[in-house]
Amino acid sequence: MYTLWEPAKLGPLMLKNRVIRSATNEHFSESDGRLTQTWADVQIELARNEIGLVITGHMTVDRTQRADEGQPVLDEQTNVDLLRYAAQGVHACGGCLLTQLSHSGPKAIPAVNGQPAKWPADFTLEEIDQLVDRFVLAAQLCKQAGLDGVQIHTAHGYLLSSFLNPSENHRTDAYGGSLENRFRLPGRIIRAVRAACGPDFALLVKADSNGCGDLSALLKLYEDAGVDGIEVSGIDFAARAGIKKPFYLDELLAAREGITVPLALVGGIFSRETAQQVLDAGIPFVSFSRSLICQPDFIARMKAGEQEESPCLACNGCYRVYRTKPVRCVTHEEPIPQLVKVFHS
Ligand SMILES: Cc1cc2nc3c(=O)[nH]c(=O)nc-3n(C[C@H](O)[C@H](O)[C@H](O)COP(=O)(O)O)c2cc1C
Repeated sequence: MYTLWEPAKLGPLMLKNRVIRSATNEHFSESDGRLTQTWADVQIELARNEIGLVITGHMTVDRTQRADEGQPVLDEQTNVDLLRYAAQGVHACGGCLLTQLSHSGPKAIPAVNGQPAKWPADFTLEEIDQLVDRFVLAAQLCKQAGLDGVQIHTAHGYLLSSFLNPSENHRTDAYGGSLENRFRLPGRIIRAVRAACGPDFALLVKADSNGCGDLSALLKLYEDAGVDGIEVSGIDFAARAGIKKPFYLDELLAAREGITVPLALVGGIFSRETAQQVLDAGIPFVSFSRSLICQPDFIARMKAGEQEESPCLACNGCYRVYRTKPVRCVTHEEPIPQLVKVFHS
């Protein structure tokens, strides 16, 4: 039904192919969260290597709740010129660029932030309102810088995933309890960003296929909130080391009936064959992360017919590295000219 290299519409965007670089925190900010030139160059280099849609690693909208010392902050202090430089560079390669907006919630690191991580129950109603505003401000900065849109991170146990997860959200007010209530905060953020940034600014979410209750109902809530696309992952992706097949495909196929908003799948896709398996199942976009840490030019190599499969072992060694230093593959040392210094130093 779909092929990897054909142009495809995703909300307001026309992508040059169906390949997405799933958000990957490279640990390339300064220790205070400022964006770096290296961070911008990496986004551009990925686009140069045939990725139709590059999604940045998660950026926090709250500088007091960072996930690590290399996580960029998106707020009033952000260098919009570097965001603009990244967007222009990606566009010059024919790609599109989204930032992933996040709040670390329970996964914030106290040693980095000098204060405890915040769980859903810790937020006052006033803080919830302020948080919605912070997501809106971050999205507006990205729009101002010429990016193509944002992805709201509602997966992997970070704050919005934690709100959706009944075992972590113990609130007894309108933000806890039923799935509709647990979705209230993500839903408010999606609607507020849309209202502030308009229909031409792409608005995606990254969603958990598990851990949040009924996936089918959750997908419908995202769709009704007006997102342009849903990238489906899972709360336990880090526990799937060594698995090189699309490990959330079955859950997504079982839940997607009646969903018309474009879907993307991430997790365990390391070859042309498995990417096509996802497309053949009727999922229109395919996302990659660890294969691109291993070989930032993996997609270009596949397109050129030089390689059918990523040499990535899916060992998650990179996942252990990136919390404290720039991400890199711990096994392969491919000499890729522009990126060797940033990914393999
Ligand atoms: C080093 C590293 C950093 C990651 N950072 C993010 C992130 O910032 N945001 C996010 O949504 N997922 C993040 N992920 C998860 C990936 O986007 C992806 O969902 C996961 O690795 C499974 O896809 P894969 O099998 O293609 O690697 C990260 C993964 C790794 C290995």
